[in-house]
Amino acid sequence: MSGILNSSIGRKFAMALSALFLMVFLLQHFSINILSVLSPDTFNDVSHFMGTFWVIQYLLQPVLIIGVIFHFVMGFVLEIKNNKARQISYAKNNGGANSTWMSRNMIWSGGFILVFMIIHFIDFWIPELNTKFVVGDMSGLVDPNNIESGYRYHEELVHKFVPIWRVALYCVGFIFLALHLLHGFNSSFQSVGANNKYTKGLKGFSKIYAIGIPLGFIFIALFHHFNH
Ligand code: HEM
Repeated sequence: MSGILNSSIGRKFAMALSALFLMVFLLQHFSINILSVLSPDTFNDVSHFMGTFWVIQYLLQPVLIIGVIFHFVMGFVLEIKNNKARQISYAKNNGGANSTWMSRNMIWSGGFILVFMIIHFIDFWIPELNTKFVVGDMSGLVDPNNIESGYRYHEELVHKFVPIWRVALYCVGFIFLALHLLHGFNSSFQSVGANNKYTKGLKGFSKIYAIGIPLGFIFIALFHHFNH
């Protein structure tokens, strides 16, 4: 692994693989969260399954968190290395002539997504870990002593989107996510060598994904804010 990461192409390849992995996660994350709008009972059941099934909790979730950390660290490493290479090889970077505005600003959109992720973890993930592993309540119930009280997941999620400031903050995060994906999705396919007769179709699909998924997240946040 360290051998791959020692070459510039290897680093780009590893970066692209982690990006593709995170995009699969994002689609999965969106599919579950849209259930909170479409069917609260199904959302509760799926959340409880995801939150308690050991394969997901102890195998897939750690892999995901390592993937997220790897992508951020590698993104900063690539940016620093690229900047150094650019200083040596070009007299000046000819701005829009040789790259798009978004491709040159991946580090900024990525940085804003990192801020969003930290806030998002404090809002959702850390309280979840706390309830399950510190308090020791794996029941998933509103009242752990009363089975009739039902699952707590939907209620907790809706509650988070009551303050308008959080909805606004999340929506800004989703817009940066769209900008990041608009360039990143295509770029990651190119880095893993998927440049063939399907390229045009992939480009179309990546645009739909890059705009559709963040728009869907915006819809979820606004829906819960106006329907609580
Ligand atoms: C309306 C939008 C969103 C909602 C309602 C939402 C909801 C949640 C919830 C409830 C959890 C805790 C899951 C658990 O551990 O039980 C979570 C975790 C997480 N979210 Fe989100 N999320 C949203 C958007 C996003 C976006 C856009 C990203 C990535 C850019 C993201 C990345 C993550 C990650 C990495 C975790 C931790 C791993 C996991 O538990 O699945 N989320 N989210």
